[in-house]
Formats: sequence, C-alpha cells, structure tokens
Amino acid sequence: AGEGEVTDFAFPFEGPFGAYDPIQLQRGLKVFTEICSACHGLSYVAYRNLSEPGGPELPEEQMRAYAEQFTVFDPTLDDGMGAERPATPADRFPRSSLSNAPDLSLMAKARAGFQGPYGTGLNQLFNGMGGAEYIASILTGYREPPDCAPEDFEGYYNIAFAAGGYPEECKDEEGHHLYPGSWIAMAPPLDDGVVTFDDGAPNTLEHQAVDVAAFLMWAAEPKLNQRKQAGLTGVLFLTVLAVLLYLTNKRLWAGVK
Ligand code: HEM
Repeated sequence: AGEGEVTDFAFPFEGPFGAYDPIQLQRGLKVFTEICSACHGLSYVAYRNLSEPGGPELPEEQMRAYAEQFTVFDPTLDDGMGAERPATPADRFPRSSLSNAPDLSLMAKARAGFQGPYGTGLNQLFNGMGGAEYIASILTGYREPPDCAPEDFEGYYNIAFAAGGYPEECKDEEGHHLYPGSWIAMAPPLDDGVVTFDDGAPNTLEHQAVDVAAFLMWAAEPKLNQRKQAGLTGVLFLTVLAVLLYLTNKRLWAGVK
C-alpha cells in the first residue's frame, strides 16, 4: 500500500503538559452520537466513563440521561418475549451496527499518523503516534478522485487512507501509486455545519473532525491526564532526590578528599 497524507492537527493533549479539554470531548461526543454511531460501535466504553475525571466529565444527571436513550438486551430479564431495558451507567455503548465499520473504541491507538522517515519512526518520537491526527485526517481527507481512476471504481477517494483499494490505472509501470491515499468504503460522514455545538464553537468540517478525533483519543486512552501528571510528579521527585543525593555524597566524602 502507498502512504496516506496525515495533517499534524493541534490537540490540547499534546506535549508533556497537555491534557484533554472536557468541553472539546463533549463536542466530540456529540459528533460521535449524531453521526458516527449510525455505523460504528464504541463497545469498550461504558456510559459511566463519560462522567469520570479526565474525560468529557458530563455531570452525573446528564450522563444518566444520555445512557437512558439507549436500550440494551438484558439476559436476566429474558422471559422469551424479549428483554430490553433502558441502558444504565454501567452498560456500554453499542457495537457497530454496520458489519464492515470497525469499532472505534481503540481506533486512535490502533492507527499511527506518523511514520518514518525511512522506517526509523523518528517522527513518532517528536510528534507522537498520531492516532488522533490520523482520524481527523481521514475525515477531512476526501477529494475528487484523480482522472486516471475508472468512473465506477468502488469506494471514495481519500488522501489519508492508505489501506484501501487502488485502481491499476493510477499506478506507474513499477506499480507505484501516483496519488496519495486510496479508496475507502466509508462515505464522507461529515461536512461543514452538520453538527451544531451547544457551546457555539465553530462547526466547520475540520473543527468537527478534530473534536471527534479528540473524543476518540480519550476513548482509547482515558487515563492520559493521570498518566502525564504521575510522570511529571515522578520527574520532579527524582530531580529533588538527585540534588539531595549529590549533597549527601559531598558531605560524606568531605573529610577524605
Ligand atoms: C472506517 C471514523 C462515520 C462507515 C472508519 C475508520 C475510521 C472511521 C477512523 C477506520 C479507517 C481505518 O481502518 O484506518 C469515523 C468517524 C465517523 C464515521 C469518526 C463520524 C464522524 C461513519 C458512518 C459510516 C461509516 C456514518 C456509515 C455510513 C465506515 C466503514 C468503514 C469505516 C464502512 C470501513 C472502511 C474501509 O475499510 O474501507 N471510520 N467514521 N463511518 N467507516 Fe467510519
């Protein structure tokens, strides 16, 4: 497969001091709920997670109300006549309703946005893995297919998606792809203004894409804030310890030198 073109979008959770912005995650949840969930599941995330610190941090009442919109099958209620009940905070989001649409719970960690150069992976050291960038790039990566492609070639041309079908007509004699990306089975799910945010935040295609990508990053790595905090505390602690040990060493050996 050829390479996809991934844009290095800026996210508030990047860098050593970065953290999720709960309000952005709430916007991303809205995009996911209104658009993506029509096909994609999020089955490793429970509704109660939406209220936990370091996530969208929905108030308890809102989270319960959100869960209650969904019905789940409960085998303990099964009397042979069906056993559906409203979801509770302990239940999880549904699985994908479209069989070829992958579950998005871990997608932001399953894909890398940055590779190379030359297979060294150095880009990931400096820019991060880029799972969220990859998702936002897919959502904004739809283009008019190049002229070489047959009219009826299956799928939608996307410059960020590298794993899809690619028409022979668009390869050179050595089989190299002449254009970035490939053809994806997902129709463009977003466009300017399809989701309206409660906080009045801008809702261009790109804003929606970045917000839902941030939300999916949280879904895949819900403890990022805590992890960064613990790391920072650890580094501070070790710095202080190093200074104290240095001084202790000086004092201990002062008489000998
Ligand atoms: C694939 C995200 C909406 C159907 C994917 C992939 C991502 C994604 C990240 C995986 C690309 C990969 O494998 O590397 C989203 C987001 C959506 C959304 C964030 C909402 C904004 C939808 C909708 C549908 C859909 C509404 C159905 C109408 C599919 C299908 C695939 C896919 C069929 C498999 C594509 C392939 O392997 O060629 N989506 N999606 N998606 N999505 Fe979506």
